[in-house]
Amino acid sequence: MSSVADYSLPNPVSENRSGLIGKAVDRYEGPLKVTGTAPYAYEVTPPSPPAYGVMVPAAIAKGRVASVETAQAEASPGVLAVWSHLNAPRQAERGAKVHPRSTAAAKPVFDTDRVAYFGQPVAFVLADTLENATAAAGLVKIAYVEDAPEVVFHDVLDEADQPPGEEDVEIGDFHRGFAEAPVQLDQTWTTPLQNHCQMEPCATTAWWEGPRRCVVHTSVQMVKPAQHGLAETLGLDRDDVHLMTRYIGGGFGGKGQTYEDLILAALGARELGRPVKVTFTRQQMFHGTIHRPATVQRVRLGATRDGRLTALSLMTTTHCQRHGAFTEHASNFCRSLYAAPNRLTGHRLVHLDLPHAGPMRAPGEASGMLSLECAMDELAEQLGLDPVELRIRNEPEVDPETGKPFSLRQLVRCMKEGAQMFGWDRRNPRPRQTREGRWWVGMGMAAAIRGNFLLPAKASFSVDAEGVITVRQGMTDIGTGSYTVLAQIAAETMGVPLGQVRVEIGDSELPPAPGSGGQFGAATAGSAALAAGMNLRKAIAELAVGDPGSPLHGGDPAQVQFQDGGIALGNRAESLSALIARAAPEGLTVEGDSRPAADARNWSQHTYGAHFCEVAVDAASGEVRVRRMLGVFAAGRIINWKTARSQLTGGMIWGVGSALTEGNLPDPRYGSLINQDLAQYLVPVQLDIGDLDAIMLDEVDDKANPMGIKGVGELGISGAGAAVANAIYNACGVRVRDYPITPDKLI
Ligand code: MOS
Repeated sequence: MSSVADYSLPNPVSENRSGLIGKAVDRYEGPLKVTGTAPYAYEVTPPSPPAYGVMVPAAIAKGRVASVETAQAEASPGVLAVWSHLNAPRQAERGAKVHPRSTAAAKPVFDTDRVAYFGQPVAFVLADTLENATAAAGLVKIAYVEDAPEVVFHDVLDEADQPPGEEDVEIGDFHRGFAEAPVQLDQTWTTPLQNHCQMEPCATTAWWEGPRRCVVHTSVQMVKPAQHGLAETLGLDRDDVHLMTRYIGGGFGGKGQTYEDLILAALGARELGRPVKVTFTRQQMFHGTIHRPATVQRVRLGATRDGRLTALSLMTTTHCQRHGAFTEHASNFCRSLYAAPNRLTGHRLVHLDLPHAGPMRAPGEASGMLSLECAMDELAEQLGLDPVELRIRNEPEVDPETGKPFSLRQLVRCMKEGAQMFGWDRRNPRPRQTREGRWWVGMGMAAAIRGNFLLPAKASFSVDAEGVITVRQGMTDIGTGSYTVLAQIAAETMGVPLGQVRVEIGDSELPPAPGSGGQFGAATAGSAALAAGMNLRKAIAELAVGDPGSPLHGGDPAQVQFQDGGIALGNRAESLSALIARAAPEGLTVEGDSRPAADARNWSQHTYGAHFCEVAVDAASGEVRVRRMLGVFAAGRIINWKTARSQLTGGMIWGVGSALTEGNLPDPRYGSLINQDLAQYLVPVQLDIGDLDAIMLDEVDDKANPMGIKGVGELGISGAGAAVANAIYNACGVRVRDYPITPDKLI
């Protein structure tokens, strides 16, 4: 059946007759999670008692495995197998793709004796219990031939090159514009390597149903690429891998790909003929998965004396793994943020023998806004302008690089309303003026921007003889609220109470959706759900008017109303359950699909926000307390006030972490990360956060999708750390351009 593609058509979600859209609906799966009964991938009960796998990580950053001594491990209690590159089961070659339409290629484990990074799995132990496997893993003796690794980013900045296939973007003549500007700023910011620190580590439970069908429960953000990658690695048909990811304890980009746990669990289960569980440990997560790479960002701003930007440049240097191909695009966002006739943006990349860099929540913006939004604060001070006013004076009419119109841009409104709500007029523009006992007190602000886009997706809707609507989609919920917003969209579309909706997601056998990432999840999955719902409405209406037993018989199907769990035509009505039980007792199932509108690329489309922050800085110790933080965001129609607000405040808390505490320190001797647990990698906790609030403007972006919704999952972190840094400067008069702003840098 066709999808809903007419963007002007009113639809039930936009009409929102019941008021369910936008409501603070509690999390669909919340009770399961808070009572510990939601089975995460490692906790799924397999059909028979499982074996447990433990990985042995490499203890060097670069070189090769010279020998593997397994006799002691093999003799250890309960051990069932010990694998390394010497004896691992055969898998497809790296990158192999039998199915040309696979969304991922083979990713074999132990296919080489080369060690490319500290923590790379080099051996694997299977045993009857986790304890026995862990003990035996400690008995595997590995000798290495070591090469000298290059792991210190700041030592090799000169070697950085243009990332393959990329060019700098220059508009006008930046160098001339900058040289001629009456007011200039040229400063460099550095951000450290960061880690996702999901509460749930990457983990898999696997078993086989016969020799050719593999069942896995794993923790991933995208279902199809994980399913395809496993199938390609094992040489199976894609449909012979049944992959489920029902509950996920955080992703943040780090589970946008799969790791060795998935392959090893599936291989182990096949070789042992019994289910196998494999998890990364917390320490292994830091090295064995991906991280946000460090950056060096040079910002140059040229302006007139009345605060019009004439030249703007952000150049980012970053790093990725020697054999990797990831670039932290920290300069991209500023191509759409402020007007300036002369512009230069680009990236430089250096390869290191560190673990793999990859996407982490708001890749690009999260790092890049930490420089540009502080540069704007410094420029405002140079000009004697309020930082909000400086930004308003450089608000572009159209996208400053492409010239495309904005789909909808309410950045100024976010800043103005935020300033008023926060009491920004009480800020003393001169730093180091407000003292309360031992504390210097100050305020700062920053803008927020994050791109918005939609991907193709499918969903199915069913109705059964009890009138229950079931949404099915290969979508994931990484803690963001996908289950809940899909339930709301379904209830509103079908005119049934929330309690009459079931949601099934996280399964490779359901209609495919791209999953969770890039803050496209709710809009993408939701648009396909709306399409499926509209198709089910049509099918139900036609069933009713064609059924002589229905009070709606003979009516116009286009006029059928869906409300209160039933259908109506004027005063003729019946319940969904009555209709389906009588006319389609097996139930009805239809699919729907959605894709970006044909003209989607004609618009410059983003989500926006403004952060306001008040901090106190201890004059003696340099300790920073975030007293108050307010974000005002414009992100399209909000489906669920509670889950959207939680995404935004969660992002803001990440921003506080970026500003004050987070960062991994590579050890130049071993290429390891020195801090590799949650006691030493400091993510802000409840007591670190003062009065925190996120406000969402009442907004509908009718260029985004038929519902006018956009994403919020990555917007909250964009700019949040810069607002904290700017507040610190206003409080104590110290500009720190090297994140995180730890107390030693303030005293
Ligand atoms: Mo995200 S960092 O695009 O999952």
